Amino acid sequence: MFEPHRIVEEFSPSEHAVIYPGDCLNLLRVIPDNSIQLVVTSPPYNLGKEYEKKLDLDSYLAQQALVIQEVVRTLKPQGSICWQVGNYVNNGAIIPLDTVLYPIFNHLGLQMRNRIIWHFEHGLHCSNRFSGRYETIVWFTKTKDYVFNLDPVRVPQKYPGKKHFKGPKAGQYSSNPLGKNPGDLWIIPNVKSNHVEKTEHPCQFPVELVERLVLSMSNEGDWVLDPFLGTGTSIIAALKHSRRGAGAELHPDYIELARTRVQQEIAGTLRTRPMGRPVYDPNEAGNKLTAAPWHNPTYQAQPRLLEVAEGDEEYKTHEDR
Ligand SMILES: C[S@@+](CC[C@H](N)C(=O)[O-])C[C@H]1O[C@@H](n2cnc3c(N)ncnc32)[C@H](O)[C@@H]1O
Repeated sequence: MFEPHRIVEEFSPSEHAVIYPGDCLNLLRVIPDNSIQLVVTSPPYNLGKEYEKKLDLDSYLAQQALVIQEVVRTLKPQGSICWQVGNYVNNGAIIPLDTVLYPIFNHLGLQMRNRIIWHFEHGLHCSNRFSGRYETIVWFTKTKDYVFNLDPVRVPQKYPGKKHFKGPKAGQYSSNPLGKNPGDLWIIPNVKSNHVEKTEHPCQFPVELVERLVLSMSNEGDWVLDPFLGTGTSIIAALKHSRRGAGAELHPDYIELARTRVQQEIAGTLRTRPMGRPVYDPNEAGNKLTAAPWHNPTYQAQPRLLEVAEGDEEYKTHEDR
């Protein structure tokens, strides 16, 4: 029976939830070969965030390679790795991290199954290029014989009432009643200030993003591992669906956050955004803020604001994430 009731710090195959307070390489070293079904993680992007020391790109990649090598060792032959990344930014020039990490996975013999685009609508505004509104999840498998469960993650059909119009099936419904394949472009809100899951961590995964990976790439009772655990999101998504979850985190505040959130998940009190909920549309919701005040002839302030904004440093913003 799957009944997680406690969080432990050391990995043991018989446990359900492991939060290792320290460097992921130390956690990985004690995990047996071929024991993890799914690795989901968002590593540091080497941007100099509060939880990372900015390195030159080669040193960063060498560090990532050590972790990836260990992760591959722990992965079951039917297992998957999902590495979720954005851009590394150097003097204003962007380097998509998946492009420079790909050779590491490839060199270790892994096969890429998808490069999922995760699109979200909120983030900082760039003034010297288009604002970043997507990141990627690169999905690799160890072998050709990998777990992939499509049915639990199908999404509603666009035209469920459509029928075959000719041939032996003419007149029968043509679409799968369980829904359609969600595709490789996922529109899922990122965890910004209004999100129900928001903590003080600057870049949390939304739980629903990881849930889709957990449901499609693992089975009940399997281990899901996140070497860069942050606030515990991957363990939460794993426990929600009767999988086991393990992860490592270095920062004491985030370790505490992860413990609290995972404990709340075990107790059934953690609030998360449910999978499948449509993205909020302010126009459809009749949000009053969608009416532009500058279309109102009595509005005076906006022309002044636009004058000030032109070329004004105050309106230039930072790189998104
Ligand atoms: C991008 S965040 C991950 C956030 C996570 N996906 C979540 O939903 O909260 C990366 C995390 O990795 C942690 N970290 C960085 N280097 C680490 C290491 N060597 N071992 C363990 N954790 C590390 C950082 O403190 C940070 O919280």
